[in-house]
Amino acid sequence: MTFAPPNFSGSVIEISRSALLNNYNFLRAKIGKRTLLSSVVKGNAYGHTIPMFVPLAESCGINHFSVFSADEAWQVFQARTTDAGIMIMGSIPDEALEWAVENGIEVIIFELERLKNILAVAKKLGKRAHIHLELETGMNRTGLEATLFDDVKAILNDYAGHWQLKGICTHYAGAESTSNYLRVRRQMKRFRNLVEELRDRGLKAERLHTSCSAAALSYPEAAMDMVRIGIAQYGFWPSRETWMHHYLKRPGEPDPLKRVMSWKSSVMSVKQVPAGDFIGYGTSYLAGVPTRIATVPVGYSHGFARSLSNLGRVLVAGHRVAVVGLINMNMMMIDITEVPHVTRGDEVMIIGTQEGQEVSVSSFSELSQNLNYETLVRLPGSVPRVVVP
Ligand SMILES: Cc1ncc(COP(=O)(O)O)c(C=O)c1O
Repeated sequence: MTFAPPNFSGSVIEISRSALLNNYNFLRAKIGKRTLLSSVVKGNAYGHTIPMFVPLAESCGINHFSVFSADEAWQVFQARTTDAGIMIMGSIPDEALEWAVENGIEVIIFELERLKNILAVAKKLGKRAHIHLELETGMNRTGLEATLFDDVKAILNDYAGHWQLKGICTHYAGAESTSNYLRVRRQMKRFRNLVEELRDRGLKAERLHTSCSAAALSYPEAAMDMVRIGIAQYGFWPSRETWMHHYLKRPGEPDPLKRVMSWKSSVMSVKQVPAGDFIGYGTSYLAGVPTRIATVPVGYSHGFARSLSNLGRVLVAGHRVAVVGLINMNMMMIDITEVPHVTRGDEVMIIGTQEGQEVSVSSFSELSQNLNYETLVRLPGSVPRVVVP
């Protein structure tokens, strides 16, 4: 499988199929066989890139994808190699409705206006719109209030024969943190009650779904008919708390999630800097002792945050070494005094493992004060991705 031109860029992001399969196996065992796992691939598949990730996920048995917007749905539609379902959770401009209905794209409905618009399009096309009703249970972001249920029912009656109720859903306001425990539990209860209210009006969906990764991991009993899994499939815990929640039940066991992505580059050149000299631009790093440095062709234009200047760590020759001086647009310097045998062309691991050491997106994120999610989606498309077994 090759998507990229020859890689002359100086670094590469590897996407591991075995890690992905491992994560799906773990998640499937957690949520149970009868629950569908929808793979959330918004934000360019959390930086793993939709064109590469979607067929890979399909090859691991995934047959449903969730995205935020219509443009992402279109990318998944282009990339998929099966008839996997595609669900838009957020933005769909009116111009995209015809395409969505025509192609059986599922759309989450959280406003009457949106419901009317998509059903009018379905009627015009002589088709059924595939809809999910999102219910307001306490997140207060998007979601239909119970006071609108009669209107929803009336609109659906007006367009009888032009819709299929694929799902009823909601989203929790922070299942990754125990401080939200009571709020999440209240949302679960409210969801059940509201589903009953809809059932009383004759509205029954094919699937109920409420869980993102954190909810699926920490409240697996609430998995229902489908879970929408983003961050965990890529091998990251949604938060430290979610990881500890798992770990405390199985102390000492290794992490069951495997990072799917590793980002590697190689040493571009090495040089010796005498004690007392500054390294790189300005005066941010003074070599206190004779220092051997290596330059690596990865800089802030490649997504390595400038805030990691004098702070970041990378792996080389199985050692965790420090980034010294300011991160440049296209390169960084690392201190290889401890590993003086390192030479041009040696592998530098920016995110990933090398000889038992790991630099994870989490440590990277903490140092740069970004969330895992943010660090991943900010990795630029210009760094080539390749699938490895
Ligand atoms: C509605 C909805 N469902 C599921 C997800 C997936 O979340 P996660 O990546 O934490 O699994 C998101 C992401 O923010 C979301 O907005």
